[in-house]
Amino acid sequence: MKKMIAAVTSMVMLCGMTSCGTKDEKDSNSKKTVGICMPTAELERWNTDGEYLKNSFEKAGYEVKLTFSNNDATRQNNDVLGILNEGVDLLLIAAVDGNALAKPLDEAMGKGVPVVAYDRLIMNTKAITYYISFDNLEVGKLQGAYIRDALDLDHTSGPYNIEIVSGDSADNNARMFFDGAYDVIQPYIESGKLRILSGNTTFEDTATKGWLTSNAEKDMKKTFGKYYTSEKLDAVLCANDSTALGVTKALAGNYKGNNQPVITGQDGDIDNLKNIIDGKQSMTVFKNVRDEASVAFEVSKRILNGETPTGRLIDSLAVDVRYDTESYQNGAKYVQSYLLVPTVLTKDNLQVMVNTGMYKWDDSGKYIEAVTKAAEK
Ligand code: GAL
Repeated sequence: MKKMIAAVTSMVMLCGMTSCGTKDEKDSNSKKTVGICMPTAELERWNTDGEYLKNSFEKAGYEVKLTFSNNDATRQNNDVLGILNEGVDLLLIAAVDGNALAKPLDEAMGKGVPVVAYDRLIMNTKAITYYISFDNLEVGKLQGAYIRDALDLDHTSGPYNIEIVSGDSADNNARMFFDGAYDVIQPYIESGKLRILSGNTTFEDTATKGWLTSNAEKDMKKTFGKYYTSEKLDAVLCANDSTALGVTKALAGNYKGNNQPVITGQDGDIDNLKNIIDGKQSMTVFKNVRDEASVAFEVSKRILNGETPTGRLIDSLAVDVRYDTESYQNGAKYVQSYLLVPTVLTKDNLQVMVNTGMYKWDDSGKYIEAVTKAAEK
């Protein structure tokens, strides 16, 4: 019955995000403005999120103001303040720095503008009404478990050498990815089966500024030069694909070992999918940003209609998501969260990406490319 309701309602949902929608609904929406604030256009996934969110709201008749803040927290503050000054009815924000938005969010609260935290939790403010993301601890656990199983840690004696590459320390997600992964690998580190020769064992030691590929490459080159001139490296736990790309680039010119270390990732970025097919990266954790954006759209739409979404909304969503009120305490409150389910991708199940409709096999049939907007129409 639930599936049937979901199937029927997913048509309604898709209609809500396409040009369908009743004329009255679109007319009433057209008087409302949604501010969408993405952290940067430098990383592949935020362009997809931003475009898809913008299209979803515009197709439903809303006015959209979309900003990308070049991974600069001050700029994002100004972007949000600018949108508030121009007038907005709801803000959807993926924070550059979850601890650096207090000023604009106090102003949003003062103006009664609801704020939805998108993908990254925003800290120390009561202004956040909802949080839409994937289960970030689970993302890390999947990465840690992949390394545990790839090295067969429960049935071999080791020891194995591993390095950890985390995301930007200002991103609350990055800490959760680290915590989730560390939960899985910590027993093996404590037993000595996993060794971290660099000594970089904390989130702060392993953080990568801006999640940038160039920074991950620079940091890993330094680690190879100091600790791996003769030692074998068995695995690198990378928090996402942009950092995994940097590690793969560093390996190419600086690792002396003759083995391919196990390398994890996240996001399913195109270059990393190629590396997975070519055996240069082992896995990525795929998060269908269209699903994440569609949940954000459905929650935001109801807020704009003066409703207060709860767990019951789950039943009408056509994606695998859970409602949670206990996992995300942002320093000021427990934030009502909708957490989607991440998926492990390896070279054996990349068809999952194609099945989303956002990707296709290229002409050679060997690699994957994004479906361009033109092709989507
Ligand atoms: C995280 C996000 C990841 C990854 C990273 C880089 O907050 O959850 O999917 O993309 O940012 O931007």
